[in-house]
Amino acid sequence: MMNRFQDIDGKPHPYLDQSGSDKKLFFEVDLAEISEDSENLCMSPLTVLFVVYSELLMPVAICDHHRNRVSIPATDAHERREIERWTKEKMKFDMMDAQYHESITHLGFTHMLMDGVSVCARRNLSDRHPLLILLAPHFRYMHQINYLATVRLLNKNGYVDQDMLISRKEMLMAVAKHNRTWRLDHHGSFKKDLRTRGVENLPGYYFRDDAMKVHEAIQDFVDEYVKLYYGCNDDVSKDYELQDFRTELTKQRNLNGTGGCGMQGVPEFENIENVVTTLTSFIFICSVEHSAANFPQFDHYGYPPNHPAILDMAEHKDVEEGIDVLMPTTKQFFSTLSIMKILTMVMTNKLGTYEKEYWDAMDRSAKGIIES
Ligand SMILES: [Fe+2]
Repeated sequence: MMNRFQDIDGKPHPYLDQSGSDKKLFFEVDLAEISEDSENLCMSPLTVLFVVYSELLMPVAICDHHRNRVSIPATDAHERREIERWTKEKMKFDMMDAQYHESITHLGFTHMLMDGVSVCARRNLSDRHPLLILLAPHFRYMHQINYLATVRLLNKNGYVDQDMLISRKEMLMAVAKHNRTWRLDHHGSFKKDLRTRGVENLPGYYFRDDAMKVHEAIQDFVDEYVKLYYGCNDDVSKDYELQDFRTELTKQRNLNGTGGCGMQGVPEFENIENVVTTLTSFIFICSVEHSAANFPQFDHYGYPPNHPAILDMAEHKDVEEGIDVLMPTTKQFFSTLSIMKILTMVMTNKLGTYEKEYWDAMDRSAKGIIES
């Protein structure tokens, strides 16, 4: 992990003890993925190295792969230019993180991914199928929101094109690229994903701690619910609607309306456990993961230096004085503010509470589980 940061080794650093006597925990966030396919040369791939102090992550170095440059915090707390330089580097990293967050974490792997799952479910499970009744509340408003995103945000010269660094084409390319390797049994499995990302034991990662408890609650609920309708594994194998649902989830995508989700890593629906695991992942992504990606947007993006959707990345701005030279235009600033305000409105119910139409669709046994 430290290899690309080796040129900070041995140099004076304001936080790190160069003697090596302090064994601190290091974590690296690599945003190379967001810029690899970019046609925009300003989108330099960036990697940030964090060190953990108590339960706080502190950035200690930022590597700009395009410029082959490693930056560290100001070593002199009284040197204004030095402080500005490090602040600018952090703002650029946060801006690149914003492109990743909105493209992959939010749009691609909650909204668009679950759009396909919903279509596959509705194509293959009848309206009265208990598993569609279980899933449907979690797809509420999703298709309408996704449609609005394509015509109001992802449209040509729309919000993404004008007020984010990434263009609509680059955003869709980033999602498509990530989609080629995304697997339900890996990236869609909350616990496995934590292990892969190396954050299983990251101190102060409160989302993981809270989400773990909610994940267990969803899994217990789904397990009890599914067992109401499937007495044994054979019942699962013989449910042709359910089998067709899985077939379409894994079927190759195409643009003529006859394709599926092209989803990799979907377990065979040959036993109850695999169905429970799959449905738990879908409900978790629709609820917990989307909430974590969506609802803090105004808090993060409402103050541009904190998480800028766009900065003025002209090369000479690096050496100009002050951080104001990087700031978005007034139009870009207010455009982000108003969109984030709308996107963070809470219109759906809490987990376990159902709108009347979904509640009425459930039979007495299902309602009994929810009420217990
Ligand atoms: Fe969202």
